[in-house]
Amino acid sequence: MIYLGIESSCDETAAALIEVVAGIPKILGHRVHSQNHTASGGVIPQVAAREHLLHLPKVMESLFKEAGIQPQDLGGIGVTAGPGLIGGLLVGVMWAKGLALSLSKPLWPVHHLEAHALMVRMEVPVAFPYLLLLLSGGHCMLTLVHDVQRYELLGQTRDDAAGECLDKVARALGGPYPGGVYIEERARHGNPQAVNLPIPFEHAAHCDFSFSGLKTACLQWIQKHPNLTDSQDFCASFQKVIADSLSERVAHALRQTSLLRCVLSGGVAANAYFRQRLQETCAKYGAKLYAPPPAYCTDNGLMIAWTTYELHRKGIAPCTDFQVRPQWPLPH
Ligand code: KG4
Ligand code: ZN
Repeated sequence: MIYLGIESSCDETAAALIEVVAGIPKILGHRVHSQNHTASGGVIPQVAAREHLLHLPKVMESLFKEAGIQPQDLGGIGVTAGPGLIGGLLVGVMWAKGLALSLSKPLWPVHHLEAHALMVRMEVPVAFPYLLLLLSGGHCMLTLVHDVQRYELLGQTRDDAAGECLDKVARALGGPYPGGVYIEERARHGNPQAVNLPIPFEHAAHCDFSFSGLKTACLQWIQKHPNLTDSQDFCASFQKVIADSLSERVAHALRQTSLLRCVLSGGVAANAYFRQRLQETCAKYGAKLYAPPPAYCTDNGLMIAWTTYELHRKGIAPCTDFQVRPQWPLPH
C-alpha cells in the first residue's frame, strides 16, 4: 500500500511517498523545500503560508514524477493538521482534503509531534514503550510513548525550547536561521570549557526544562563582547551546557521509568554532538539511544507518510471532516 505524507506546519514544504509491504517501508519519493529566512532572521507566519501555497504544487509534481506513480495509485493520504502555524497548516490540509475527496482515498490528520515521535520506527522497529526526548523549534519535552496515540508527558520546558534558544543565540551572533546548524558548525572546533554559562536546573530531580535563563546569559555575554571575531569557543560552551541539561533530564527520566530504550527526535536531534552526549548518558544506564538519521530529524514528509501508515495499522479511522489545530497536545 502506498502512503502520501504532506507537511507544511512551519517553514518546510514537504511531501513523501512510501510503500509499505508486510510492515517494511520503501521510500518511493521524498521532497523538502526549505524556506529562506536570511532577510527576516526568522519565520514570519503570513510569509511562510504564501510560500507553502507557491511551492506545494511544485513539490507534489516533482514528487510523483520521482516516484513514477499516479495519484490514483495511492492507498492512503496523511497531512499535518497541527500543531503549527495556522496558515501553513491550512494550505497542506486543503490540498490533502481536495486530493482525498476527488480520488476517494482515505485521509488521516497527523499530529506533527506524533510524527516526530514515531519517525524512528520507519528505519528501526523500536518497540513500545520507549522514552522520547522531543526537541523541535518550539517544543522540548520528555514523554513516555506507550503506543500509537498513547503518550504520557513526564516533563517539558517551562519557558523556551532548546531549539528556540539555539535559534535566538545564533541570531544574536549574526548567524543565519536555523540557528542550531550554525551553532553546531561553529562549536565543532571550539573549547567547550572556555565560557562559563549556567546549566539550567542543574541536579534537579524532575523532567522539566528551562532555557530562557541560559538564553539571557548568552545574550548578555554577547553584548559584553562586541568585538568578538571568533565565536567558536562560545558556541562550543553554549552547546555543551544545553547537552549537560538534556543529559541530566534524560538520566532522571531513565532512573524514574527504568526504561532501556530512549528515542531522540525533532530538528535539534540532527545535532551530532547532542546525539553523542545522549548516547553516552543512555549507556551509563544500560539503555540504548535511537534517533532517526539526521536528515529525517528536521521536518519532512516521510515522517507524515510513516505515521499515516502507523495510524492505519493501528485501526484509527480515516476522516476528511477535521479542522486544523494550531495548538494540539499529544494524545493520552
Ligand atoms: O523539528 P523542526 O525541523 O521544526 C519544528 O517542528 O519546529 O526543528 C527546528 C529546530 C530549529 O530550532 C533548528 O535550529 C533546530 O531544529 N536544528 C538544529 C540542527 N538542525 C536543526 N539544532 C541543533 N543542531 C542541528 N544540526
Ligand atoms: Zn517539527
